[in-house]
Amino acid sequence: MIKASDFGPDFLWGVAGAAAQVEGAALEYGKGPSIWDTFSAKNGKIKKGNKLAIACDFYHKYVEDIALVKFLGFKVFRFSIAWARILPFGNGGINQEGIRFYHNVIDECLSNGISPYVTLYHWDLPQALENEGGWTSFTINEAFNHFVRICAKEYGDKVKNWIVLNEPFGYTSLGYMLGVHAPGKTGLSNFFPAILHTALAQADGGKILRSEISNANIGTTYSCSEIIPNTQSDNDLLAAKRIDCLMNRLFVEPAQGLGFPTGDWDVLEKFQIEYGTWRLKERMKFDFDFIGLQNYFPLTIKYNAFIPVIQAWEVKAKTRKKPHTAMGWEVNADSFFNIIKQFAAYPNIKNIMITENGAAYHDKLVNDSIVDVERIEYFKLYLAALLRAKHEGINITGYMAWTLMDNFEWAEGFNARFGLVHTDFKTLKRTIKYSGYWWQEFLDN
Ligand code: NOJ
Repeated sequence: MIKASDFGPDFLWGVAGAAAQVEGAALEYGKGPSIWDTFSAKNGKIKKGNKLAIACDFYHKYVEDIALVKFLGFKVFRFSIAWARILPFGNGGINQEGIRFYHNVIDECLSNGISPYVTLYHWDLPQALENEGGWTSFTINEAFNHFVRICAKEYGDKVKNWIVLNEPFGYTSLGYMLGVHAPGKTGLSNFFPAILHTALAQADGGKILRSEISNANIGTTYSCSEIIPNTQSDNDLLAAKRIDCLMNRLFVEPAQGLGFPTGDWDVLEKFQIEYGTWRLKERMKFDFDFIGLQNYFPLTIKYNAFIPVIQAWEVKAKTRKKPHTAMGWEVNADSFFNIIKQFAAYPNIKNIMITENGAAYHDKLVNDSIVDVERIEYFKLYLAALLRAKHEGINITGYMAWTLMDNFEWAEGFNARFGLVHTDFKTLKRTIKYSGYWWQEFLDN
């Protein structure tokens, strides 16, 4: 049986969440609309028409929720600052009520002995900035830097652990190429400028935090998935390489000073030439103190000539009759181990934290309990793989479960439940699941 103490006395255990997914009070207390407020108000964008106006009402329940973090035994709470709560129009006037809210959240963590890990951008861009082009516009960088500076000056004395961006590939691909997330834009003509400005924001944000905050511990996070070619055919191998460029290498390599990963894929090579990104190599570089990895599943990839641009397609876990979660995501802890190793091989990555990992299942609330045995099994498998990676000498210093409570899972709405705590979205009642109690026992031992 794996124990928390196997990871060493200094290992950090936490839970993660994000503003738009839990806060609610979407247009209250001076907050401006974000792209997710706009997107979720449109018909057909979110499953069952769910809206994030109230979400888990963390805005009013943060004291209770932070008490839950403590009760479960976690010492780290990762949350994000809603840009439009601080700057309702993205730029310009500051909303003092918003400033105060995050002071309250931070103080509540600190007085409960919990370290806040604060994410600056977890996908909820102020709508006012999207109206000017959002991440596709070069004006976004100045606006983001302004926001980072305000947060650093305001909270830097209390908060030392910072995360610049959450999963840059997530929001640029889903929001600016495939259009299934906010702001719903599609095509390479949106995706290319969005990835360029994002890679710049990642490094700029790090540099601002470094200059404004003494002793800051600065990281950023990446979604990552081991990419497994469906067969060893040349076509499948090349297709897998292209997906790896996109899903795993696209943002970590610019931060490492390597520029965009153009060598294995001519589409990125063209992008580099068209946008002159090789000239920006130095500016895109930043020496992060830690890299946050967020892993849920591997992808098995097959060549497919009919898929535009990427000519690759996923062979789903279900098709291959592999165990999977309610999201259809393959449960495969070896792939967690493998992807951590892949990232650890970059010579400039000094420290890895797992900033998200977890699973959605079809939980059933019966007699006020949720017996989510599958989720417990998932954590056991993934933690064992993590420990194996640590024993191989990889400097892994923390793990954060996704997520404290069931929340607004983006385009899935409230229909995908990842929490250790069940949320009743009608009454907003929280009920600790068996997996929550499992964590409590795990951390207590
Ligand atoms: C990645 C995102 O950062 C988070 O917001 C999301 O809810 C989880 N993965 C699960 O999909």
